[in-house]
Order: sequence, then structure tokens, then C-alpha cells
Amino acid sequence: MRYLTFALAKGRLAKKSLEMFEKIGITCDEMKDEKTRKLIFVNEALKLKFFLAKAGDVPTYVEYGAADIGVVGKDTILEEGRKLFEVMDLGFGKCRMCVCGPESARDLLKHHEMIRVASKYPNIAKDYFYNKKHQTVEIIKLNGSVELAPIVNLSEVIVDIVETGSTLRENGLTILEEICPLSARMVVNQVSMKMENDRIMKLIKDLKEVIG
Ligand code: PRP
Repeated sequence: MRYLTFALAKGRLAKKSLEMFEKIGITCDEMKDEKTRKLIFVNEALKLKFFLAKAGDVPTYVEYGAADIGVVGKDTILEEGRKLFEVMDLGFGKCRMCVCGPESARDLLKHHEMIRVASKYPNIAKDYFYNKKHQTVEIIKLNGSVELAPIVNLSEVIVDIVETGSTLRENGLTILEEICPLSARMVVNQVSMKMENDRIMKLIKDLKEVIG
């Protein structure tokens, strides 16, 4: 039997991903050690390998088959646009992709003004403004703390993830429009889905039972 390799998105989703796998008897104790600098973890008994990667790289590992399976947010899947199968909504990491800004920016969205939109997700922002709203905008790519942009007048609005809404509230910003709901998803390499179909389908079935 060959190894099945899992790429898990580092950060918020990693802990929940491991908890979910534990519920179906897939454990990887080595990986829980937060201080370890090791990159790849093996469960010899089950012939499984796990690694943590930057969220944005997970779809890349899966498309190229370096990982058979990935766990990553829908935001990253949409932004990266990789060729892979999205097989399951895992039901955790729920949040929303939104257009946010100060209340005063609401009118700019109504009247199709040429505005600047800052985001860590330029492809999602482009798709929303160009293909759904038919509004021409300038997209500015940022790498984090995107809520700063409208505060320091880099942009009029942002496209970003809203989970609890506290980052917005604490910075005097609000949701202006909702783009789509997000959550963690399981993705599978297209070749692995055929070659390892039985093992992968069993995994999906087991996960569905614990997720409900
Ligand atoms: C995300 C997102 C928002 C925040 C939303 O940022 O970009 O800033 O969380 O969460 P909330 O609605 O519960 O306040 P993250 O913490 O991932 O860091 P970042 O600034 O690097 O994007």
C-alpha cells in the first residue's frame, strides 16, 4: 500500500483539521507538538503522511499530486483557482468573504464609482467587482492587516474575511456587501481520486459520519 499524503493549511484550520481526523481514528501525535520544526509527519500503521503548508500553497501541492488530499479554506480555493476536486464541506472555519469599509463608502458601491479595493484576495475581488457587479475598480494586493487600508486612505474599501466582526468593529469599519460564505473544505488531487478511490471514499464516508 502506498502512502496517502495530506496537506493541511497552517494556522486557524490546522488544529481543527487534526481534531477531525482524530475522531475517525487518524492520529498523528508528532504533529501536535507546536515547537517542532519538523515538516512532515508519518503514521506508519495507516500508511499516511501529513504536512502543514501555507494555506495558499495547499491547492498547489494537491494539484501537482505532491499531496493527495488537502484541507484548506474555500477562500483559498477560490483565490488560487487550481485544478482539483473539492469533495467536502468540513463545516468548521465558517466565515464570510465581504466587501467592507467605512459606512461612508456605501454610496461608492451603489453608483459604480471608480474606487480602490485592497485585498489579500485579488482574484476574488476582481471576479466580484468585474463579473458580478460590473464595476470597474483598481485592485490593490495586500498581504495582511487589510483593515488598515481604508483607515490610512490606501483604498476606499477592502475585500476580506469576516469571522466574528470584531476586527471591523474595533477599527470603525462595517460590512458593506457579502460576497460568499466560507468554510474549510477537503480537496483531492484529480489522479489520486481515481487511483486511490476506495481509500479516499472511505475517508469521506467516515468524516461525513462524524460531521453529521
Ligand atoms: C483575518 C481577516 C480579518 C480577521 C477577521 O485576518 O483577514 O482581518 O481575520 O476576523 P474577525 O471578524 O473575527 O475579527 P487574520 O487574523 O487571518 O490575519 P491577517 O491580518 O494576516 O489577514
